[in-house]
Amino acid sequence: MNWTSRPWRADDVPFLWEVLYLSIHVPDGLEPPPRSILDDHSLAHYLRDFGRYPNDDAQLAVDDAGVRLGAAFSRCTTAQDPGYGHVSPEIPELGMAVVPSHRGIGIGRRLLADLLERHPTMSLSVDLENAVARRMYESLGFEWVADEGTAATMLRRG
Ligand SMILES: CC(C)(COP(=O)(O)OP(=O)(O)OC[C@H]1O[C@@H](n2cnc3c(N)ncnc32)[C@H](O)[C@@H]1OP(=O)(O)O)[C@@H](O)C(=O)NCCC(=O)NCCS
Repeated sequence: MNWTSRPWRADDVPFLWEVLYLSIHVPDGLEPPPRSILDDHSLAHYLRDFGRYPNDDAQLAVDDAGVRLGAAFSRCTTAQDPGYGHVSPEIPELGMAVVPSHRGIGIGRRLLADLLERHPTMSLSVDLENAVARRMYESLGFEWVADEGTAATMLRRG
């Protein structure tokens, strides 16, 4: 299967919301949350008015027909309105997901490596149960900085 990685464009924003939804950790045996969960401020503040702020950025994977397969995105959150993986207002937080049908073929690693070229310092929050993502983050230079209940905050300094 052929796919390529490219920077985001304004018409990718609806897909970034899909990626935000897919990035929500669903514990084994539980139903995924309703899509209306994206209206919650704690999620919506990652993408609302995306492109407005300097560190708003994303990298997408697309197939030969242009179908979007996954994305990694970054945005800074503030101390007054922190994201789950907030470390500092100057450090963008990462969000990412690959569509379920195309996981495990190298897309996630490529997207993150490409985004890190533009934003070598980033933080994130990852569920402790999400071993695949955690290992990928560690192998790309992220280190644990805090435990927040069922999730860990990780930071990469570039
Ligand atoms: C986490 C995620 C983005 C990784 O993307 P991906 O395209 O599936 O990952 P890749 O194929 O690039 O693989 C990355 C690493 O994970 C490993 N991996 C991938 N799927 C795996 C699986 N099912 N079991 C074990 N290891 C796996 C790969 O071997 C690779 O390791 P390597 O580079 O050392 O060989 C993707 O699985 C996903 O969207 N998950 C759901 C959403 C999510 O968890 N987002 C992150 C929230 S913090």
